[in-house]
Amino acid sequence: KKPLTTAKMRKMKEDGVPITMVTAYDYPSAKLAEEAGVDVILVGDSLGNVVLGYDSTLPVTIDDMVYHTRAAVRGAGNTFVVADLPFLTYHGSIDATMEAVGRLMREGGAKAVKLEGGAEIAHTVKAITQAGVPVVGHLGLTPQSVHQIGGFRVQGRNSEQAKKLLTDAKAIEEAGAFMVVLELMTDELAAWITKQLSIPTIGIGAGVNCDGQVLVFHDLLQYGSDSAPRKFVKTYANIGETIRNGIGEYVKEVKARTFPAQENTFHMDNDVVQYLYG
Ligand code: KIV
Ligand code: NA
Repeated sequence: KKPLTTAKMRKMKEDGVPITMVTAYDYPSAKLAEEAGVDVILVGDSLGNVVLGYDSTLPVTIDDMVYHTRAAVRGAGNTFVVADLPFLTYHGSIDATMEAVGRLMREGGAKAVKLEGGAEIAHTVKAITQAGVPVVGHLGLTPQSVHQIGGFRVQGRNSEQAKKLLTDAKAIEEAGAFMVVLELMTDELAAWITKQLSIPTIGIGAGVNCDGQVLVFHDLLQYGSDSAPRKFVKTYANIGETIRNGIGEYVKEVKARTFPAQENTFHMDNDVVQYLYG
């Protein structure tokens, strides 16, 4: 199987074939996602929360993103991997932005980068696209702006905000983005935006009418995430419980000296044993 291309993803939108995306942050998670047949892997800066234990994505550095992207790409060489540009790495000079993009692509091995924001960063999207790097936009609830937004609430509830989000989506498309993530907004708004864009929309907490869906690996698998599952997350497996039970069993058996058992144990020949013990 070969990785998808941006052209194929656009064709999937035209044909009404949903695009599946999941986050992954290292070799095993990316490998399992690829084996499960996911279309696109996102090395999201959500790794700050779910892998590094921060309470937001703001502390995530470009070094963190490169490190995790490299590991994910090693696990999923046949899948289109997108990497997030972390907080404040694309708001200074174009040179500084390109430095960050270059690291994710060259060192990380990503095939595209994702950044948050609308019309105000369209010039940045354009510059990156013109350098030959595919760009994914991200609108609605944009976690890097959490302190400005003032919390995690559903976006674009009134008509003014809705129109602003469409304007932003169109600006991003116009600037050359090949895909846009729509996070935490009503089904109606996401459907309306999806219809008016020619690039695919990927929803998270944005209803079933987007061109595809994305979920965070640790959320959909209940893998060590502290927070109770939110309304827009569906839990498909509880590997956290599986892991806790597995390690608990190991601890019990070591305490009881039932592990290692005979089948896990190496032995000397009897004459050597006799020599040692006399
Ligand atoms: O970082 C991330 O995981 C994301 C997705 C939620 C879209 O940006
Ligand atoms: Na992100």
